[in-house]
Amino acid sequence: MKILVVGGAGYIGSHFVLEASRAGHNVVVFDDLSSGFKNNIDTEIDFFEGSTLSNKNLSEVMSSSSFDVAVYLAAYKAAGESMSDPVKYASNNIIGGLNFLKACVEYSVKKVIFSSSAAVYGNPLYSPIDELHSLSPINFYGYTKKVIEENLKWYSNLKNIRYASLRYFNAAGYDSDKKSLNKENNPQNLIPLVMEVAEGSRELLQVYGNDYSTLDGTGVRDYIHVTDLAQGHLASIDYLFQNDNNLTINLGTGRGHSVFEIIKMTEAISNRKINFKVSKRRAGDPDVVIASSEKAKQLINWSPSNSDLSNIIDSTWEIYNR
Ligand code: WQD
Repeated sequence: MKILVVGGAGYIGSHFVLEASRAGHNVVVFDDLSSGFKNNIDTEIDFFEGSTLSNKNLSEVMSSSSFDVAVYLAAYKAAGESMSDPVKYASNNIIGGLNFLKACVEYSVKKVIFSSSAAVYGNPLYSPIDELHSLSPINFYGYTKKVIEENLKWYSNLKNIRYASLRYFNAAGYDSDKKSLNKENNPQNLIPLVMEVAEGSRELLQVYGNDYSTLDGTGVRDYIHVTDLAQGHLASIDYLFQNDNNLTINLGTGRGHSVFEIIKMTEAISNRKINFKVSKRRAGDPDVVIASSEKAKQLINWSPSNSDLSNIIDSTWEIYNR
């Protein structure tokens, strides 16, 4: 299959590109390199440098080939940052996302994979969260994902697009063959920040609150290995080609780990001390976010096999300890 991967040089995108190439697909990457790296992808893969904020750039890549499916992973993903800089997120995630959909319509790309987020749910009313949970984002990042999900529904009805909306929980880990080697640029998520403390490039970790309703008081999240995420995308593509349906599924493990557990596991694996300081809660942070991925299991026969916390931390430390 001919697959366009928008945002394919980024952390999650490059892991998808790897798995798609391993599965024998013909992949073209489009990326503005604002947070991705060209050397995250194999030199044999066609690469277009361009921005989703430029309709001209999108036209250039879309007209370069006839794509069976387009995968959109070009959004910013830091929930905390989205609360302090919403304009950055509205511009890239909403305007860029809508430009991408416009290009899909114009160039008749009828199948779309959208990287959505657990952040669309907001504060969980029950746990684990399934796909029937109401959508009330409590951070602006989650709102941007909800907007694109809503547009996808309309485009499906009005323009005959079929889409898979994949609600990622907390993406983490690195390819086991070390085919994606770049640390994230200016990371905002917990695990890369803990790694920076372990490698010595960051003095300490701010733990955003220890008074949450969790066992140790720190926030609990469902960490899913990027290779499992990437495989979920491939299975979703197969689903779209085998069924005349859209697909909205969670991709998570059903298990939660606290901030302190991440710190302890990283200390054990790296044999380094993680200095931290408990500071006040970050805006827009729920206590516990854990996925039910039963729907993904049933519909696309997907279950995560790389997402043990030890494997996630170990594969990440291998990159930071190089
Ligand atoms: C995890 C936990 C923080 C940083 C992310 C993405 C979002 C979505 C889901 C895909 C929280 C705590 C963090 C730090 C800390 N995924 N923390 N100190 O907010 O759960 O959301 O995953 O779309 O894109 O942003 O992830 O890694 O920022 O936080 O104490 O310096 O770590 O409070 O409990 P989050 P995160």
